[in-house]
Amino acid sequence: MTTLVEQKALAAQLACCDEIRSYWAAQGKTPLAYVETYGCQQNEADSEKIRGYLVQCGYAITDTSEGADVVVMNTCAIREHAEQRVFGNLGALTHTKRRHSAQKIFLCGCMAGEPTVAERIRRSFPIVDGVFSTHHLWQFPEILRAVLLTGRRQFYTENEDGSIAEGIPQLRDSRIKAWVSIMYGCNNFCTYCIVPYVRGRERSRRAADILAECRELIAGGCKEITLLGQNVNSYGKDLLENIDFADLLAQIAQLDGDFRIRFMTSHPRDASRKLFDTMARYPKIAKQLHLPFQSGSSRVLKAMNRHYDREQYLERVRYAKSVMPDLVLTSDVIVGFPGETEAEFEETVSLIRLVRYDALFTFLFSPRIGTPAAKMDDPTPKAEKSRRFDKLCAIQNEISEQLHAAYVGRTLRCLVDGREGACLTARTEGGRLVRFAGEDSQIGNFADITITGSTTWSLTGILESEGEKKLCPRR
Ligand code: SAH
Ligand code: SF4
Ligand code: F3S
Repeated sequence: MTTLVEQKALAAQLACCDEIRSYWAAQGKTPLAYVETYGCQQNEADSEKIRGYLVQCGYAITDTSEGADVVVMNTCAIREHAEQRVFGNLGALTHTKRRHSAQKIFLCGCMAGEPTVAERIRRSFPIVDGVFSTHHLWQFPEILRAVLLTGRRQFYTENEDGSIAEGIPQLRDSRIKAWVSIMYGCNNFCTYCIVPYVRGRERSRRAADILAECRELIAGGCKEITLLGQNVNSYGKDLLENIDFADLLAQIAQLDGDFRIRFMTSHPRDASRKLFDTMARYPKIAKQLHLPFQSGSSRVLKAMNRHYDREQYLERVRYAKSVMPDLVLTSDVIVGFPGETEAEFEETVSLIRLVRYDALFTFLFSPRIGTPAAKMDDPTPKAEKSRRFDKLCAIQNEISEQLHAAYVGRTLRCLVDGREGACLTARTEGGRLVRFAGEDSQIGNFADITITGSTTWSLTGILESEGEKKLCPRR
């Protein structure tokens, strides 16, 4: 059963924030803090909480580690490359800290939950003042206070089953689009994946807390809410209330206001017809689905412990497309899983040709210490894996290009979400990026845009309002 962090424990953290604020006020200084995010949306959402706490502690947020009084590296452990980047940046910070010896450096996020990483930091990176895993994020003020007042290094790295802390202050990156975590952790133990080890067991927030957060966001002008969880489809299984993910989606979709809901990630095993019917029924739920398939081979899927086979996956996609003809589908795939044969790789190729995803996130298998796949026999040479990887990317790029070309001439309701040089940027309901010419005052509104051009990655368009048809410079 999910445990909630007691309100009085959270109040004690906020009291630490007050103490830190007074500490800096006594020195007559506004301290600076820099938070760097390395991982997924969940990691981004965690960074918004870290920044929220830092602001509460009196810090101003800056966008560089140079001159910052606090640097927080919110890390990702999903692939080796992500970890190497962190170690590389830690090396660079050694120089930054030499110029600013009072700088305090913290490492948190998924890498902090790996015992080998915590040990390496302890031994080899004395510049790091504090390490805390995702389970201890809610205790960041207490950790920061201890470092500032005692100068001693703090390690909060024990991995627990996990709890939920409501009421952590949050500094959101955007006024228009918001992440809302609906659950934490993962129980699936896919054999390649580190997440269940570093983020603990699945635990769901109470629906009332989620709905209250969504209501507040919408009242504040938020136009797009993305519900987050490693596997949103198992939402509610650990709650006393009788509610599943489709029920939660339906409740949010019935809130007043002009907004869109997205969610990620859906595990195909639990992607039910009820979920797809709910998506189809409510206009506020974007007709977009990120449904990672990982491999097109049933043998490999079994070795990955994914609990569905090729046919079951395809059947789910067929049903989803039958109730949502305009559905935009995206997915994740791993190339070069231990023992993947050429024929099995070709099954992956044939699956992407069958489904025709709008976009695909393609990853080369990366062995993670402590996961079963890291111990599996892996005879395929690296060069062969790279060849497969490149082939898959080329095929997918062709598909994305064709699907994007088919948008030309259509007028779509898009959310204008920012500026990029001479163009404004917007997102279609399916999450495709559109660039068009317009005024900054349009940012934060929905607009009808006619698509005039396309590439593999994005679309260009013109605004339909007030007969205004300005062309965005070609890129
Ligand atoms: N919970 C999500 C995925 C989170 S991780 C889900 O199950 O869909 C995002 C993606 O990283 C995964 O979908 C997978 O494709 C990839 N990934 C995870 N572990 C990996 C590893 N060890 N090597 C390569 N890719 C990996
Ligand atoms: Fe990792 Fe699988 Fe959990 Fe996704 S569902 S986070 S891939 S273990
Ligand atoms: Fe996300 Fe990376 Fe952790 S993908 S869950 S930040 S390992």
